[in-house]
Amino acid sequence: MAKLEFIGHATFLLVTDEGTRIVIDPFLADNPATDATVESLGAVDYICLTHGHADHFADAVPLAKATGATLIATYEIVTYVQSQGIEKAHPMHIGGGWDFPFGRLKMTSALHGGAVEAPGAAAFTTVAAGLLFNLKGGQRVYFAGDTALTMDMQLLRGGVDVAVLPIGDNFTMGPEDAARAVEFIESSVAIPFHYGTWPYIEVDPQRFVSAVGDRARVVVLEAGESYDL
Ligand code: NI
Ligand code: MN
Repeated sequence: MAKLEFIGHATFLLVTDEGTRIVIDPFLADNPATDATVESLGAVDYICLTHGHADHFADAVPLAKATGATLIATYEIVTYVQSQGIEKAHPMHIGGGWDFPFGRLKMTSALHGGAVEAPGAAAFTTVAAGLLFNLKGGQRVYFAGDTALTMDMQLLRGGVDVAVLPIGDNFTMGPEDAARAVEFIESSVAIPFHYGTWPYIEVDPQRFVSAVGDRARVVVLEAGESYDL
């Protein structure tokens, strides 16, 4: 059965019905929200990135090197990781989709900073993205990534079962805007992330639960917990 494990902060492990293991935004060694490591994640088939900020990207290259996973990201980030010796990488960009062995992945728009935070990466600034998975098993999961509330989210209506949304405020949507995103997307389930890790994003997820009300089921995952898709 497919499941989504919240590693902590913005890092997730998506496991498909067929057992394909996809890590979203690996941030491990310096992540205050988890004790997980490149080693403890075990086998990884794909690494998918929303953007290049360190709290989403810091362990992507080490994880790709350790596991041999294929790294999927915007063209500019892929160009950077290739300069770091990663050969298995698939470049995409916003608005584009691709049929991977695990299902279709489409890169959606996000409104957020575009720096690629890594040694020697200054020339590779890109834009932030969201990730919309249509898995072979039929599950439709949207990772908004770091983003403001955008009208573009209305384009997702009817195409998402589980929406993974930032609620931490300050750098991204806060809980009330994230609840408006749920209203736009009309997913049946919403999972909050990107809160509580540092003082700038100290937000009580119950504010999100209250703001969503009966529009969707909000699943608040503690680091290390999983949701069965
Ligand atoms: Ni960011
Ligand atoms: Mn972030």
